[in-house]
Amino acid sequence: MRYDSPSKARESRRRRGTAAASAMVLASGLLLAVGQTAIGAENDPAPAQQRVDNPYDGAQVYVNPIWAANAAAEPGGSAVADQPTAVWMDRISAIEGNGSPTTGDYGLRDHLDEAVSQGADLFQVIIYNLPGRDCAALASNGELGPDELPRYESEYIDPIAEILADPAYSSLRIATIIEIDSLPNLVTNVGGRETATPECDEMLANGNYVNGVGYALAQLGAIPNVYNYVDAGHHGWIGWEDNFGASADLFFEAANANGATPDDVHGFIANTANFSALEEENFSIGDTINGQPIRGESSWIDWNNYVDELSFAQAFRQEAISAGFNSDIGMLIDTSRNGWGGSERPTGPGPETSADAYVDGGRYDRRINPGNWCNQAGAGLGERPTASPAAGIDAYVWAKPPGESDGSSEEIPNDEGKGFDRMCDPTYEGNPRNQNNPSGALPDAPISGHWFSAQFQELLANAHPPLGSGPGDPGDPGDPGDPGDPGPVTGCSVSYSVQSQWNAGYVAQVTVTNTSSTALPSWSLVWTNPSGQQVTSAWNASVTQQGSQVTASGSGWNGSIPAGGSVSFGFQGTLSGAHVAPAAFSLNNSACS
Ligand code: BGC
Repeated sequence: MRYDSPSKARESRRRRGTAAASAMVLASGLLLAVGQTAIGAENDPAPAQQRVDNPYDGAQVYVNPIWAANAAAEPGGSAVADQPTAVWMDRISAIEGNGSPTTGDYGLRDHLDEAVSQGADLFQVIIYNLPGRDCAALASNGELGPDELPRYESEYIDPIAEILADPAYSSLRIATIIEIDSLPNLVTNVGGRETATPECDEMLANGNYVNGVGYALAQLGAIPNVYNYVDAGHHGWIGWEDNFGASADLFFEAANANGATPDDVHGFIANTANFSALEEENFSIGDTINGQPIRGESSWIDWNNYVDELSFAQAFRQEAISAGFNSDIGMLIDTSRNGWGGSERPTGPGPETSADAYVDGGRYDRRINPGNWCNQAGAGLGERPTASPAAGIDAYVWAKPPGESDGSSEEIPNDEGKGFDRMCDPTYEGNPRNQNNPSGALPDAPISGHWFSAQFQELLANAHPPLGSGPGDPGDPGDPGDPGDPGPVTGCSVSYSVQSQWNAGYVAQVTVTNTSSTALPSWSLVWTNPSGQQVTSAWNASVTQQGSQVTASGSGWNGSIPAGGSVSFGFQGTLSGAHVAPAAFSLNNSACS
């Protein structure tokens, strides 16, 4: 999939907008893990439900068994194999099932039946088959020609709508993610811009993206348990001044086209199949170096108004509301491949010698250029799927199933309509769209949507949060029997001290010592916070609180603990009343003194 940005960069450089968005600094508490696999008894069809504000809240999300099997077959893959990923209807034959390696024999009904028998509350499906699909790139071109809107409606959307409306599935909340790679192209890749393509110009002129999205919204939105989320690109695509409001306006036009109304839109999704970091913590859009705003001086930011997906998604939500969408819309952010962990992850800001040194030295996103979009080397799994992680965000989701290719690194004949885009070729030296930088793509990739083992391995290796440290990570190396399980920790001790305390907050320091004779290749410390105490930020470890349970884990330089060694970290929290020290700690699931 192609989420181009350099065009926007170049465009913006020419127009140099002046409005500076203030960076939003947000607590990123992880509230609720979704998608624990639980195979429940067959559910009886339930009566149609009222739509809820956030369908992900409290929901067990469907785990696609085909993806899970591909993941579990990989060394180390069972660490994440029971995470929920979306089911892609990427061509008409996917509705019935077409036996491809990443969809198997499952059609839409098979998935829905399986979701019911899993006892799932929520099912995620991607609607992805517009006429003239992916007009600015080749790797995910589809089966329908630019003029085939009637086929899209009658052979694709209508059958999907009929299945989703079956009362057998009325107990499920169905999140439909509408047409990745489409509408933003009609803002950024048309009309004489440097990055215009004839294909996108054609889709703007014939109206088939707008009318196709409108049709999908109207037909699917008429089903009471369906929640439509429209693709909103990502910050490195529509985060520039010129593209941001224009995209919201175009989405509003589509939400009023071909029978749709804005009530058919429950929200938007950002970053599907892209790699933009969730939060860049080492710099903010409003920072200055040598008195100059990094927004204009850093070639990485290059006049964008956002530096990461969380700030972008929250701001885009407001923009969409201003454009006319309902005030209760919610955002999804795809965190399947934006983890950027591993040894290359910066541990602090870059040097303040220049804006480039500062931003490039501190940014988590290690792509060569933000215009790179295909099978990026160095990427890792991001936040695990989580409900209500931040204001305005319904969930972090894995819409792009990790391990499925973005496009082939060389031409591979196929019957899916997929082309060969040189942005997927690691030897490609780039073009003006990525400012003539190498593509940054991994070699030996299969066509888009097909399983790409080497990429999956890379995503596991560079996961951030690291594997085993996220709520719901069954691959926690402390989990008995999981691959990478170093066995029980035979000796550990924890010292916990409060460094300072004020009326509503405190700072604590924790030192974990591995008193056993075996090194711990990774560690995860868990404790229960007494009521009223809530972790808000941390240093030298990732510390998250879910309910009263706190999980701390290290990565990079403090990601392992040698035999007899220690790691220390600190955190800040809020409290009501006097601070109470936690009563017990467990390290990799073994109790510590
Ligand atoms: C491909 C689709 C595939 C999807 C999920 C897209 O890039 O074009 O065929 O279903 O990715 O992997």
